[in-house]
Amino acid sequence: MERISITVSEELLRELDRILREKECASRSEGLRDAIRKYIAEQKILDGLKGDVAGSINLIYDHSAPKILERLIDTQHHFSDVIDSSLHVHLDRGHCMEAIVVRGEGERVKELINRLSSIKGVKHAKLEAVPGVP
Ligand code: NI
Repeated sequence: MERISITVSEELLRELDRILREKECASRSEGLRDAIRKYIAEQKILDGLKGDVAGSINLIYDHSAPKILERLIDTQHHFSDVIDSSLHVHLDRGHCMEAIVVRGEGERVKELINRLSSIKGVKHAKLEAVPGVP
């Protein structure tokens, strides 16, 4: 096994520890190995998205993060070829949820989810997509 060292925010670490306690996970290392395996499995599913797909992206974000609204809107305009519609829900004073319906070329949808996930302040971005849908 290799040893790695990472830097995370206090908030993220607190949340991780809470989940690990709930799951009665033996250690942070074990929990992080599990998270890495899930991340890899998710990326493999994205890699397999070819041809036409239909689905939705669920986003949860902190709307007070600097320039986040501008970045989310810019990105969605840039991908209007695969975005069918979107629904915005104000969750609480600081958080928003957005459900984006996507339809079109899988590679473009994959590019979109990767772009959205990388925007600072986006706490959750998940794509559910079915391939082979016209
Ligand atoms: Ni909102």
